[in-house]
This record gives sequence, C-alpha cells and structure tokens, in this order.
Amino acid sequence: MRDLLALMLGNEGFVVATAESGDRARERIDNHPPYDLVITYISMPGMSGIELLRHTRRTSPETAVILMTAFGTKDTAIQALNEGATYFVEKPFDIEEIKAVVRRTFELRRIAAENVDLKDQNRDLREKLRDRYQFDGLVGRSGKMRTILQLVERVAGTNSTIMLSGESGTGKELIARAIHYNSPRRERPFVSINCGALPDPLLESELFGHMKGSFTGATSSKKGLFEAADGGTIFLDEIGETSPAMQIKLLRVLQERQIRRVGGTAESAVDVRVITATNQDLEAMVREKTFREDLFYRINVIPIRLPALREKPEDVPALAEHFLEKYSRQVDKQIRTISEAAMECLESYAWPGNVRELENVIERSVALEAGDVIQPDSLPREIRCGHSRERDVEVLLPEGGIDLDRHVEELRRRYMLEAMERTSGVQTRAAEMLGMTFRSFRYFAKKYGISALRGAARRAEANDGIDEAVPEAEELQPVD
Ligand SMILES: Nc1ncnc2c1ncn2[C@@H]1O[C@H](COP(=O)(O)OP(=O)(O)OP(=O)(O)O)[C@@H](O)[C@H]1O
Ligand SMILES: [Mg+2]
Repeated sequence: MRDLLALMLGNEGFVVATAESGDRARERIDNHPPYDLVITYISMPGMSGIELLRHTRRTSPETAVILMTAFGTKDTAIQALNEGATYFVEKPFDIEEIKAVVRRTFELRRIAAENVDLKDQNRDLREKLRDRYQFDGLVGRSGKMRTILQLVERVAGTNSTIMLSGESGTGKELIARAIHYNSPRRERPFVSINCGALPDPLLESELFGHMKGSFTGATSSKKGLFEAADGGTIFLDEIGETSPAMQIKLLRVLQERQIRRVGGTAESAVDVRVITATNQDLEAMVREKTFREDLFYRINVIPIRLPALREKPEDVPALAEHFLEKYSRQVDKQIRTISEAAMECLESYAWPGNVRELENVIERSVALEAGDVIQPDSLPREIRCGHSRERDVEVLLPEGGIDLDRHVEELRRRYMLEAMERTSGVQTRAAEMLGMTFRSFRYFAKKYGISALRGAARRAEANDGIDEAVPEAEELQPVD
C-alpha cells in the first residue's frame, strides 16, 4: 500500500518520501523542512498513527495529516478529526478517493495561503496585480474577442453579476480578474474559489465561515470568503458542480446579500460582486433539474461565453507570440520568433485544451528549442503535422528483417510514379516535387522505365511488383 501510494502520488507530480514505521516517520518529520502532507495508517507497530498525528501537529502545525485505517470505528474517526487530522479514510481504500482527498487537501491549503495573502496585501502589491491584469495582458484580435473585451469594459464599472461560460482553458478566470481589476472595486480583494474541489461542509465553512465549536475540529471562529471579499469580488468557479443543498445556500446569499457563519445565528451584510464560471451547459442542467432554475437566473444576469480557440483561429499567432515573449523572458533565452512552418502547424491544430494548451506548448518549445527561432521540431508530435523531419517517420521492421536497398528502391519508384501522376508526366515538375535533380530523376526514371511506360507501370503497380514493372534489361541503360 505504501509503495502503491508513493507511485501513484509521484505520477500526480508530488514529491513523496516513505517511512516503514511511525518512528521512522517521526524521524523524517523532525529532520526535514515541513512536509505539506503526511498520510499514515492508524495502527502500526511502535508509534501509532494518532501519536504521529499529535507529534506532527505539535512540531509542524502547517502540515496536513490524512489518517487511514483498516478497521475504523466512529470513535477513532472522531478522535482523529478532533486531534486535527485533515481527513480520515477507511478501508476498502479506493485509489480515486484517496487522490481526490489529497487534491482537496492541497486546495484547502491554497485557499488558506491566499487568505493570508489577502491580509498582507498592501497597496503596492495590488498595483502590481492590477498592471498584470490590465487588458494588455489579454490577447484578443479576433472579432469575437474584441466584442467580449468591449463588453468586459462596459460591465466592469457596474456591480452586475456575471456568468462566464466556455470550455476549459478558454480564459474564464483571466476575464474574471480583468473585470475586477478594471472595476471600482480594484483596491479591494479578488477572491477565487473552485466550488467543485471541496465537499459540502468544507465549502460551506470556506464560503461563509464558522463559529468556534460549531463542528468537531472548529477550534476557533473563522471568517468566510464572502466576508474576506467584502468590498471586492468573489469568483465562484465551477458553479455547476455545487450540490442542490449548496445551491439553496448560495441562492439565499445572492438574494439577500447577507451571510451567516456555520453554527452562528447573526446575519451580516456583505458587499461583494459575484462572478461565476462553468464549463458545463447550465441551461441543459436546469432542464434536467440538476441545477436550480432560480439560482440560474440569479447568476445569469450578464452571460459572457468565451469561444473555444478553434472558433477564433486568427488569435493563434498573436497568442503564440505573446506566450513566446513571456516564457523566453522567464527562462532568459533569446528566442526571437516562431518560424513560418511552426506557425502553420499551430494554426492548423484543433486545440482541444484551448489557450491553456497553446500556452503549455509554447512554454515547452521555448525550453526545447536550441536555436533562436521556434521550429516545428520543438513542437509536440501531434501538432507538428506534416513538418517533421525524417527521423520522426515511423518505421516498421518485420521480424525477419528486410532488404533495405531493395525496399528503398521500391519506395523511390512509387514516389516517382505518384509524382509523375500528379504532374501529368512533366518530369521537371515531378523531380522538383521529390527534391531530386532533373538529372537523377531521369536516371532513375530510365532505370525503372517510368517515362516510357507510365500507363503500363501504373497498371503493374496494382500488381505490386517491381519486377513486372521493370522492362527488359536492354532498356535499362542508365544515362549517367
Ligand atoms: N485571451 C487571452 N490572452 C492571454 N492569455 C490568455 C487568454 N485566454 C486565456 N489565457 C491564458 O490561458 C490560461 C488558461 O486560462 P484560464 O485559467 O483563465 O482558463 P479557464 O477558462 O478558467 O479554464 P478552466 O475551465 O480549465 O479553469 C491562463 O494562463 C491564461 O492566462
Ligand atoms: Mg478556471
């Protein structure tokens, strides 16, 4: 189980250290900068998981701890959570569940870190952020994007609730930030939360806060994100993923602009601008009754649909250049531009991952490119289209091996026939198509009897044999 978890989390991109006992784990924890997360069994020989949890909480309070048990009782679970465990997982272990729990742990930590940032934020930092999210960081030459940017400019100044929709990677969060940093609220916080990443009770306490003692583990009262965003903007990402119970709670807040902390009785007014985002079809979800219609109308005041990148291919070159500049500056490489061939590849690709995918591709090719111009070779294979060099052509070597010379001859013959066909037998053009000199084209044409026997050769081609296509030996006198 330990090895399996290490392998699986390693695949997810985490750096994992393992320990074969509670005592070994304590040693590691004591001699290492704080770990982000400890995953431990409860019952182990020597130091138990609960003891390890206590030790971790004491010596490195910022480390999250997930406890696993093969034979959980409700009591151990409650004890674990009371002692400060982040999660408690029982057998049978479902790998997907553990992955989800780990992801949630990190999402919680990110939110906590952002809240600290919010507190520390000074004017300077806000100014910097504002520059970063001015419209100039946003590329949009296409008609579709220009219309959107005009709309963004017009609505930024209002308090209207905005709903951003569009496939993953189309720039929903970027637009949400642009709206905030171009609004009169720009000096106040922009708070973003992914509603799909947290289970209900946690999401609720994140959004609305909680009172001390309102549930096991609530050792102090906590401000929610709505309160943290007071005077600013809250960005509710993946709104389509919220449960029916959560939808009712959100509806109430949006209607009354009042929030009540979990376990609290007092209502307090909040002044926040709400922007939501989804990559789901909320209208269809309303029809299927998986999303509340009243909430839909509440959040769908000003809908902005972000087009997929394939719907605005004319933006690809400008976006690519924009990311090229960004990443070559970041890694301090002098890459001037993107070659025409590489740009052609980028423009003809369908971009299922939209702008984010394009950004990743450019980042990667900046890292790979040795010269000062991005060439098709530093693009991923599926984007490189027809521009790859020979070394990328796939070959199939049969078990018994092949006669390479004969195979190459045969390939040459077939390409020449095809070129002759395409150019209606004009040898100079056929030679050009194959990158051959006219002299060598004529030599091989003669060798294979192509010019004289075009029709015949074509028919022989159907029989797939070089021998039948080659005329009598005396006709095969090479010219040079
Ligand atoms: N028009 C644009 N100009 C410049 N950069 C852009 C543009 N659109 C998107 N990007 C960049 O693409 C990346 C993905 O954008 P973003 O995170 O806003 O997408 P999203 O729609 O929120 O995706 P998801 O639904 O997966 O969360 C970001 O790095 C963003 O800066
Ligand atoms: Mg997003």
